[in-house]
Amino acid sequence: MLKPAELSLEEMGDLAEIIPFADPVVRLGYRAIPSFDEPTRRSFIPVCEPTLGGNEMKYVMRAVETNWISSAGSFIPEFESRFAAACGTKYGISCNNGTVALHLALSTLGLEPDDEVILPTFTMIATLNAVTYVGAKPVLVDNEPTYWQMDPEQVAAKITPKTKAILPVHIYGHPVDMDPILDLARSRGIWVMEDSAEAHGAEYKGRRCGGLSDAGVFSFYGNKIITTGEGGMITTDNTELARLAWNLRDHAFSHERHFWHKYVGYNYRMTNLQAAVGLAQVEQLDGFVAARRSHAAAYTARLREIPGITTPPEASWAKNVYWMYGILVDKEKYGMGRDQLRAVLADHGIETRTFFIPMHCQPVYWQKFKGQRYPVAESLCRDGFYLPSASSLSPADVEYVADVIRDACPALK
Ligand SMILES: Cc1ncc(COP(=O)(O)O)c(C=O)c1O
Repeated sequence: MLKPAELSLEEMGDLAEIIPFADPVVRLGYRAIPSFDEPTRRSFIPVCEPTLGGNEMKYVMRAVETNWISSAGSFIPEFESRFAAACGTKYGISCNNGTVALHLALSTLGLEPDDEVILPTFTMIATLNAVTYVGAKPVLVDNEPTYWQMDPEQVAAKITPKTKAILPVHIYGHPVDMDPILDLARSRGIWVMEDSAEAHGAEYKGRRCGGLSDAGVFSFYGNKIITTGEGGMITTDNTELARLAWNLRDHAFSHERHFWHKYVGYNYRMTNLQAAVGLAQVEQLDGFVAARRSHAAAYTARLREIPGITTPPEASWAKNVYWMYGILVDKEKYGMGRDQLRAVLADHGIETRTFFIPMHCQPVYWQKFKGQRYPVAESLCRDGFYLPSASSLSPADVEYVADVIRDACPALK
């Protein structure tokens, strides 16, 4: 039987200090907020939730009424082309989640065990797992401290003749500084694939994330800016890559004859039901992005003067879509640490989530990266967490959350 990787905090040495406490229990049934027209449904403010206010029901009903509920049906190509167009790419290859979309995208490259793939240590574990699934060697880099994104200088330092791919991750909806990475890659024939799971609609120098490199990879999990419940998509302009991904996604059925296979393929297909929801969601993408940017501006206006609170950055070349509105807490200046503040918020019916625990600190990858240190990722992990960020938040929700953070600040008392 598979055994879990064990890692005690003692074994982690001083890295143990950055590991967050367990999530606090969120108190239900707290004070009514004026915007709460359904107080029993929302007796707390969730960190995120889907916004299904468009054609979702209509399109799903159409899929059911026409009997097309599996992975054939017209909503699938329609959603793929609408989403690809929203990213500025020729092709969209839908999948049943973002993790398999990453795996599928990397699978098209035909990587060998010695091949190296560079990715940030500060990411969600699916990015690294996908590299593990294809049997390549993951090489970690740190983030830069200004925009909390993968550091292009460190990417340059880690490139070797064995580097075959770079996976920038647009964390929390802010783009990575892509040009230096693309320059490094193009001159060496290295593939670049953006993990854009958190960056639907985000822009780098006026161009959409997911359309900046050889391929983009998206997730449509329920907490993403647009959702299909579970789902994912590869976006690309590369015809060969797109054709191969479509084929591998579907058991690699041969075009010559049925049940004739030249690759080890997968069943990573999205259903017509999911695509029906996806199409309705992509129709609303610009509205969702505008809502999130407006919530972010309102949060920042209320939080930026509070001692010890750092609000999320936005580079001059970036359009941050604030998938999650993250803040950093300086324990000394604010007067209490991140975990204590999260407990206060939970007690006020506000759900939050800590920033990612870096990959080099994960029990399952501890031996692989033992001894490696990434100070920016570690400090983001120690001090960072994100506030309720759904597109459907009301101005009153945002005001309430920000007021709890201000009122709880010991340094202001
Ligand atoms: C950066 C990043 N990559 C990949 C994924 C995986 O996507 P999914 O949950 O759809 O498999 C996520 C999901 O949360 C993510 O945040």
